[in-house]
Parts: sequence; structure tokens; C-alpha cells
Amino acid sequence: MKVAIVGKGGVGKTTIAGTLARLLARDGYNVLAIDADPNLNLASSLGIPEEIAKKIIPLSENIEFIRSRVQPFFGGIMSFTPKVDDVVDRFGVTGPDGVKLLVMGTVRSGGSGCMCPENAFLRALLSHILLGRRDVVVLDMVAGLEHLGRGTARGVDLMLCIVEPSIKAIETAERIYKLAREIEIREVAAIGNKILSEEDKVFISKGLGEIGISLLGHIPFDEAVIRADMVGKALLDYAPSSKVVQSIEEVKNIIVEKYLQ
Ligand SMILES: Nc1ncnc2c1ncn2[C@@H]1O[C@H](COP(=O)(O)OP(=O)(O)OP(=O)(O)O)[C@@H](O)[C@H]1O
Ligand SMILES: [Mg+2]
Repeated sequence: MKVAIVGKGGVGKTTIAGTLARLLARDGYNVLAIDADPNLNLASSLGIPEEIAKKIIPLSENIEFIRSRVQPFFGGIMSFTPKVDDVVDRFGVTGPDGVKLLVMGTVRSGGSGCMCPENAFLRALLSHILLGRRDVVVLDMVAGLEHLGRGTARGVDLMLCIVEPSIKAIETAERIYKLAREIEIREVAAIGNKILSEEDKVFISKGLGEIGISLLGHIPFDEAVIRADMVGKALLDYAPSSKVVQSIEEVKNIIVEKYLQ
């Protein structure tokens, strides 16, 4: 199962991706987290110490290595020799709870025709690796799906769209939903985040209901998330028994039940 965490900028994608990845790993899944956002902050959300995170080599800075793994094929299709363990050993790190992390670095923008090697690499990685029943890939995406290109997004099984109570977040969810349907992604679901009131929940449910996206649950607004961020700690380590972690756990259970059984 390959899950991409998507949504408008700042809605909580990285926080949720990191926490979800570790909670899934605690359930016994083999989790590969991929940071596809050039801002590179998934490591901290996963609880990987800064001194280790600093040593991670983004794949985009290893174009030669990527080129050696991605051979141009006729008709613009890329072929790929997937050796993910090799890639993770060389460029990734293993963090708390055994989550493996790969960092893409700058994924250059471009549409479906983009042939840049790092984009092709991510696309090939997504379409060829980790198909075991207990394997999960969690992708933390850059805000606004367009950057990745449709071909890359096509390898994803589930798009989890994070939505905060704002019109813009709902509009982004709608764009993502349309794109996902165009490229035949099997599942799109949403999670409400930064919820402060019942009205927030109603606003999000109504907005998503009109689009037709199913809602897996709500995560409250909690200052602990911001404080964890400020001290550079993973939410799961900073406030393990908080309501916000409990809510992410509930959403994780629904994901396991609905998509991973
Ligand atoms: N449930 C929450 N309660 C309070 N603050 C939150 C919550 N979720 C996220 N935040 C805060 O919102 C900000 C953005 O969160 P995060 O970086 O996870 O979002 P993002 O969608 O990955 O952002 P970007 O689009 O920049 O990658 C951070 O300061 C984070 O601490
Ligand atoms: Mg982010």
C-alpha cells in the first residue's frame, strides 16, 4: 500500500505523515517514509535526531546514482531496476520504531511528460517496490500536487488529503480529488485537522460531502503540535498521550481496517 499525504500548504501533512508512519510501524508494518517535499522536514516529524537528519543525502543530489538506476526506454517510458534496500542503505536512514526514511530533495516541477531523473526515479520506485501485505509507503508530498507530475502520482494507492477548516483547504481537496480520478487512483480519503469546534467538523464534513470525498476522522487543534515543532521533537515523543496523538491513532486504526486488511 502506497499512501500519499496531500493537501494545501500548512494543513498538517508532515506532522500527520510522520506520526502515522510510526504508529503503523508500531503495529508491525514495514514502513518506508518518503519525503517528497524540498523543505525536508519529515525527518523531524519522525523523531530522527537532527545530527542524523543532517547526514541524509537527498536523492536529487545523487543524480548520477539515479541515472544508473533509471534507463531511458523507448517511447519515453522509463525502466528501472528496483533495489530499494540498496537505495535505503545508501541514502536513507532508519528512525524510531524502525521507520525507514528516504529524502527526495528537489523534485523539479513538470507535467506528465517530465523526464527529469529524480521524478522518474520516484515514479519507478512507487510503481515497482514494496508490494508485500505488511509493507506501507508513506509519502509526504509538497503542498499542491501539481509539482510532482501526474505520472508520479499514478503509482499511489491511497491519497489522504489533509483538510483544515478553511475554504481554501476544501478547494485544494477538490482539485486533488479531480486529479486523482483522472489518473485512476483507487482511493481518496480525507482527514480533518486543526479542529477547534463542532462547527469546524460540520464545515469540513459538509464541504467534503459535496465533493464526494469520504472523511476518515478529525484531529483536534492542539498547541502541543506547535511546541513539539519548536523544540524539534516528534509529536509522538513530545506528547504521546495527548488527544491529538489519540486522534491520529484512531484514524490509523480506520486506515488499517479499511485499506490494509
Ligand atoms: N493539530 C494541530 N494542532 C495545532 N497545530 C498544528 C496541528 N497540525 C499541524 N499544526 C501546525 O501547523 C503547522 C504546519 O504543519 P505541517 O508542517 O505538518 O503542515 P504541512 O501541511 O506539512 O505544511 P507544508 O505545506 O508547509 O509542508 C506547524 O506549525 C504545525 O505545528
Ligand atoms: Mg510539510
